[in-house]
Amino acid sequence: MMFKHLHLQLGSRFLAVLVACLGIAGTAAAAGGGALHDRADVDVSNVASLQRGARNFVNFCLGCHSAQYVRYNRLAQDLQITEQQLIENLMFAAEKPQETMTIAMRGDDAVRWFGTSAPDLSLIARNRGADYLYNFLRAFYVDPSRPTGVNNLMLANAAMPHVLWELQGVNEAVFEDETDAEGVSHKVFREFRQVTPGRLSAEEYEQFVGDLVNFLVYIGEPMQLERQRLGIWVLAFLLVFGILSYLLKQEIWKDVK
Ligand code: HEC
Repeated sequence: MMFKHLHLQLGSRFLAVLVACLGIAGTAAAAGGGALHDRADVDVSNVASLQRGARNFVNFCLGCHSAQYVRYNRLAQDLQITEQQLIENLMFAAEKPQETMTIAMRGDDAVRWFGTSAPDLSLIARNRGADYLYNFLRAFYVDPSRPTGVNNLMLANAAMPHVLWELQGVNEAVFEDETDAEGVSHKVFREFRQVTPGRLSAEEYEQFVGDLVNFLVYIGEPMQLERQRLGIWVLAFLLVFGILSYLLKQEIWKDVK
């Protein structure tokens, strides 16, 4: 009887802690002022999209971010591009195809210029998830109080400048005051309003970022392309083998009744 009582008590404590945690998570989200929740349309079997993503990456990101686990020649092989195309279109920061995607900027320079270093992006898609990246690259807005002139809805006070502003254009974020049940008012994100148009339309920019995220997902695990191709053969083998084993079993057991 006593044990049962103890059990119940522990159970209700656990519940109380759980509820408290959820409460904290809830207020943290509210204090963040909001976020984008769109989903990235990832398809690493779309080689044309990966090629565009690689082009976008070397042109707009590789100045500050390395992808130190990615080798150029492996990239060319997976993305079905010739060595000539590789050298002419993607290898601005390297001499030889067997080199990895490193950058010239030194970490301590980055800290001096941006206050923090720009992370290596080899594994960023596995670390943050594709949806986050897709939203992060679409969430910059004007904020004169920041040294870069912009802020980011997904990463408050991000040190990264909006390097794609010429393509996307410049957005303002509209926040509204909202009062919660306890009478505390919060600024809550409503929408982005474009103040300067970019070179790309909204759909074109989404496609641009989508290709880029697709590429980041691919470099997070280059093997996944091969794994999918292999997977089909493995499943086919299992199917054939399954049928054979079944027939064999019928044959062996046919006299044993
Ligand atoms: C001018 C230098 C610069 C360029 C170019 C640049 N970034 Fe960054 N990036 C930074 C810095 C600095 C940070 C660190 C931000 C921070 O921690 O506040 C960062 C952080 C990031 C992060 C991590 C965000 C997080 O949640 O921690 C991602 C993802 C990212 N950049 C993606 C990109 C992509 C994709 C491109 C190309 C379109 C790009 N960056 C181009 C400087 C740059």
